[in-house]
Amino acid sequence: MIKPQTIQEILETARIEEVVGVFVSLRKRGMNHIGLCPFHNEKTPSFTVSPSKGIYKCFGCGKAGNSVNFLMEHEHYTYPEALRYLADKYQIEIEEEQQTPEQVKALSEQESLFHVTSFAQKYFSNNLFNTEEGKAIGLSYFKEREFKEDTIKKFQLGYCIDKWEGFTQHALNNGYKLTYLEKTGLTIVKEDKKYDRFRGRVVFPIHNLSGRVIGYGARILKSDSTKPKYVNSPESEIYNKSKVLYGIYFSRNAIIKNDNCFLVEGYTDVISMHQAGIENVVASSGTSLTTDQIRLIKRYTSNVTILFDGDPAGVKASFRGVDMILEQGMNVKIVLFPEGEDPDSYVRTNRISEVEKFITKGANDFIIFKTNLLLKESANDPIKKASLIKEIVNSIALIPDGIFRSVYIRECSNVMEVPEQSLMNELNRILRRRYKTQHKIPPEEEIQQTEYTDEKQIQVDNFDCEYKEKDIIRLILTYGDKTIPPDGEGDLEITVAEFIVNDIKNDELIFQNPYYQSIFDEYVSELEKNDVPTGKYFINHPDNKIAKLAIDLIATPYELSKYWEKNMIPVASESNKLKKAAISSILSFKDKKVDLLMMQALQEIKEAKDNEEIMLLQHKYQNLKRISKEINARLGRVITK
Ligand code: UTP
Ligand code: MN
Repeated sequence: MIKPQTIQEILETARIEEVVGVFVSLRKRGMNHIGLCPFHNEKTPSFTVSPSKGIYKCFGCGKAGNSVNFLMEHEHYTYPEALRYLADKYQIEIEEEQQTPEQVKALSEQESLFHVTSFAQKYFSNNLFNTEEGKAIGLSYFKEREFKEDTIKKFQLGYCIDKWEGFTQHALNNGYKLTYLEKTGLTIVKEDKKYDRFRGRVVFPIHNLSGRVIGYGARILKSDSTKPKYVNSPESEIYNKSKVLYGIYFSRNAIIKNDNCFLVEGYTDVISMHQAGIENVVASSGTSLTTDQIRLIKRYTSNVTILFDGDPAGVKASFRGVDMILEQGMNVKIVLFPEGEDPDSYVRTNRISEVEKFITKGANDFIIFKTNLLLKESANDPIKKASLIKEIVNSIALIPDGIFRSVYIRECSNVMEVPEQSLMNELNRILRRRYKTQHKIPPEEEIQQTEYTDEKQIQVDNFDCEYKEKDIIRLILTYGDKTIPPDGEGDLEITVAEFIVNDIKNDELIFQNPYYQSIFDEYVSELEKNDVPTGKYFINHPDNKIAKLAIDLIATPYELSKYWEKNMIPVASESNKLKKAAISSILSFKDKKVDLLMMQALQEIKEAKDNEEIMLLQHKYQNLKRISKEINARLGRVITK
């Protein structure tokens, strides 16, 4: 556990522009820095970093946060991982709280699994370099495959001794629990027997985005057709196969730099290409691609180039996977290697300049590639050709961007010698059908008009209410410590915070949104303890949801002057403006609360059983109505006064 003081020091030392600057190229503009948002695709920068507030915010996609949030979002670090990264960057010594035996026991299951996989990695590496068997069998195998020693070390390759429970015993002797050995799949437990899953194999550790080992692929060394070539770790709490790509930890910087990601099939393809100097490469590890894996790549680039072994049947089988990439709005190119070659063999037998030339020249746009391949198959067969057209247009329809879609329609109409308009008609048919199913549009006559509008009304109200609540929180976070003028002679000057808090507490008003309520409560208790809490206090809040909310609120501050100019208020002193802002915020907030109560009362009247109850409720409703009128009158006075 990192001590709270250390966390505070890290948060205060980290400079947001330096943290973000490693991943996003930023340019100074006024007080802020701007750049292209790393979280969505954009051509003009709307990603803003504010050094003074210590936060980033994208005005395009809305993502916002502090240094820690950025690392968590962009690098997929956990909270402690992000803190450690920053501590390392700013050379802050991490002070850990001494863990009691209970805490060690309670070490999260996840953390325990990480400890086991990391322990295993060290054991396997040690076998490879420092044992006779490892050197003679494992290391010599890697050498045969022309893996250099620093490549082997970088990818942390290893060897598992060919004994039934060599590793398992070693781990147990070192205090690792059998359940974790089993859960990570390193040990197979069958009845009273237990044995090493990877015995006698070389191992390829699989790393997550922060470089921790989450699983293994292990390759057999002898050719033995009765056994699988690779044995892989099973899924566990730390290893979700559909969410990782082999090599991503080592390649993501190169992917960003090249704005392209090569996708290959195997562990050895990734490693050989790295060794040859092509580092923007990841492997799907023999399984079909998942949407999560595609999104993982998309964080770094929108361009994927798939490198296929020279086997057309295999390529066709992967068309569905490629369609999924298109669906994510990414550009896909295909390179087909010569028969019998894969990226691994190709980079080993050719000079790097030749490899690069081959890839650039051989890269085909996927849609065009697919069209050509299917066209060849359907040669002179009109029925096949018709289904080919449907098949291709289906792929094109997946592309989210309309402009790209029409470019492809045009190109494919050329390649297939089919009129552009027929393709367009087919495309529109598919798009219409999909829109209807996605939006669950029922046949017209089934819509019940009245119910629909009722529901809509309530939603709008809730939204509006939320907005008013937000306004209050924003006002106290941004201007809480500012003073406002006293009401009359002899009155004390008070802060915006005190003014608002007192008023809301007097009326015992509750926030609908639990997060606003919790910010408000904490604000009040801080206020009672000492000074007015600053926005920074909430920006660096340990509860991530609260920190996010605060960041969001502060990133788009309450625009005092504009609001009052719009309402034609003659020049007033800042503190006067603040007072008006505070009063009108509170009044609007109350107004919404009363509206909600009135709505509830009406509903209750509808559901009421007897006359007496109805009368009581009607009375309540009239009262609320009176209050509402009063509030609105006061609101009107504040705004026009
Ligand atoms: P390959 O057979 O192409 O393996 O399978 P490779 O990595 O190129 O290995 P070498 O070059 O023969 O040594 C591609 C990927 O499919 C998965 C592995 O992830 C492998 O890297 N695979 C393959 C398995 O999981 N199990 C298998 O039995 C075979
Ligand atoms: Mn291979």
